[in-house]
Amino acid sequence: MVGQPRPRKRVASRQMTEPWWKSAVVYQVYPRSFADSDGDGIGDLTGILQHLDHIARLGIDVVWLSPVYRSPQDDNGYDISDYRDVDPVFGTLEDLDTLIKAVHERGMKLIMDLVVNHTSDEHPWFLKSKQDRHNPKADWYFWRDPKPGTVPGEPGSEPNNWGAVFEGSAWHWVPERGQYYLHLFSVKQPDLNWDNPQVREAVYAMMRWWLDRGVDGFRMDVINFISKDPGLPDGPMTRTGYGDGMPHFSYGPQIHAYLAEMRRSVFEQRPGSYLTVGEMPGVTPQQAREFTSRDRGQLAMVFQFEHVALDQDGDKWTPRRMTVSDLRNTLVKWQDALAEDGWNSLYWNNHDQPRVVSRYGNDTTYWRESATALAGVLHLHRGTPYVYQGEELGMTNVPFADIGDFRDIESLKRYAEAVGHRGADPSATLDTLRHKSRDNARTPMQWTGGDGAGFSTAEPWIPVNPNHVWLNAAAQLDEPTSVYNFYRHLIALRHREPLIVDGTFELIEAPSEQVYAFRRRLGDERIEVYANLSDELVALCLPDSGEVILANYPASDRGRDSLAPWEIRAYKLDS
Ligand code: NOJ
Repeated sequence: MVGQPRPRKRVASRQMTEPWWKSAVVYQVYPRSFADSDGDGIGDLTGILQHLDHIARLGIDVVWLSPVYRSPQDDNGYDISDYRDVDPVFGTLEDLDTLIKAVHERGMKLIMDLVVNHTSDEHPWFLKSKQDRHNPKADWYFWRDPKPGTVPGEPGSEPNNWGAVFEGSAWHWVPERGQYYLHLFSVKQPDLNWDNPQVREAVYAMMRWWLDRGVDGFRMDVINFISKDPGLPDGPMTRTGYGDGMPHFSYGPQIHAYLAEMRRSVFEQRPGSYLTVGEMPGVTPQQAREFTSRDRGQLAMVFQFEHVALDQDGDKWTPRRMTVSDLRNTLVKWQDALAEDGWNSLYWNNHDQPRVVSRYGNDTTYWRESATALAGVLHLHRGTPYVYQGEELGMTNVPFADIGDFRDIESLKRYAEAVGHRGADPSATLDTLRHKSRDNARTPMQWTGGDGAGFSTAEPWIPVNPNHVWLNAAAQLDEPTSVYNFYRHLIALRHREPLIVDGTFELIEAPSEQVYAFRRRLGDERIEVYANLSDELVALCLPDSGEVILANYPASDRGRDSLAPWEIRAYKLDS
């Protein structure tokens, strides 16, 4: 609940040469599922305001707000029809101003989601663009003629073979214009043509408008997709029956030029320093370094996807067994790649990912232990950690009963395609969705064990996870060993120990496959982290001196030469 603002000066205490976001911890709010203040079953801005102290008390520095712009909500706000207004479902622009002010009063910053690879098909730019081939916005989107010699609008006449992320072709036929438009996501999310300078300037102007309003940066949705290979060539065929266009748009010819231009036109003229994080599916470590390089980089950091794709084979619906080595190797690879230059973002969860404790942990027998071990591993890496709402409580995947419980466009389209078109087994398809659906991350925040989990007094827009009766914020805030207090401790540790922010990273070779151990070093000090990422006890040599600065088992249960299932321990030592 809203209490006294507590201004903090943490960021100023770091060296003036280092950007503030290097020592920051970010908390992502998915507004639709965070807190409903007006009893319509949907979260809103006032709900966030009312629970801001939950976030401040964790020690968070930055709030990232998933989209609250005006939107038909085809993809829960990632389809924007007005970039300069708030959707009535979430409140008003004044509510947002109030929230920004309240965030700042608590010594935190706020970043907005920037979704500019595409707009909604209800955005006035698109409505104009689709009218005919000669209007002033005719070239603001990707319009192409049907393939010669085919029947326009019929399958097979699409300009290329690309599939859309949310099933089907990436092209949609518009009879008024006698052309197709490109939509990499849903049919209601047409891709903006960034090769048109007017489009770019319209986006930059909108970004400046938000910075003038007081926001402190942007999380940029699929920002590496904005530059497409101009020929839009076919991509390699996939299991879906469509081509994969990624090679032609995930690192397009102008991507650096456009992001550099954005940096010059939006950020460089301003005295402040802003957090810019680019969501970049398919980005390689080398590319991430280019994007985030200290001198030449265009962004503060990127979201890469390698460590959240280890349990899938090619596409997200095909499972693959992930080993601890796979995870360790990937995390180490990214730590090493951005060790000298560039900067990592660190995340397990967001609104697109299933809950990590269910996915990479053990959400039954070792629920608390695995939630905390995974948190400890991530937060003690070098980079900027992100906490997704509910992660700080150890929220889990959801036992969705049937397809009627799902709301996510991706999940619903997947089900319709698999069961409706390909004749897949409905219960097997449901099972896949239970593991991988984005809705696992989108059920209401679990504030209390009461009806509606304290999220809403009405029927929530998506079912509440039944485990809210025991897994909720109210049960954890004053419980010293809770997941919440572990996160709180981790965040405080980062703020207290410069070596967690600035220290170098190195892998410690451990005798067991199941252990992930690493060292951070700065000046005369070092921290060693030992984590058992398995359900079995493992024997290993642990430091016999030093101070234990992080542990998820009580001192009395800590073995001298072993780690219990999902045990993590961090030691502070003198070099
Ligand atoms: C990535 C976002 O995180 C996701 O939620 C959305 O569906 C797509 N981009 C399209 O905007």
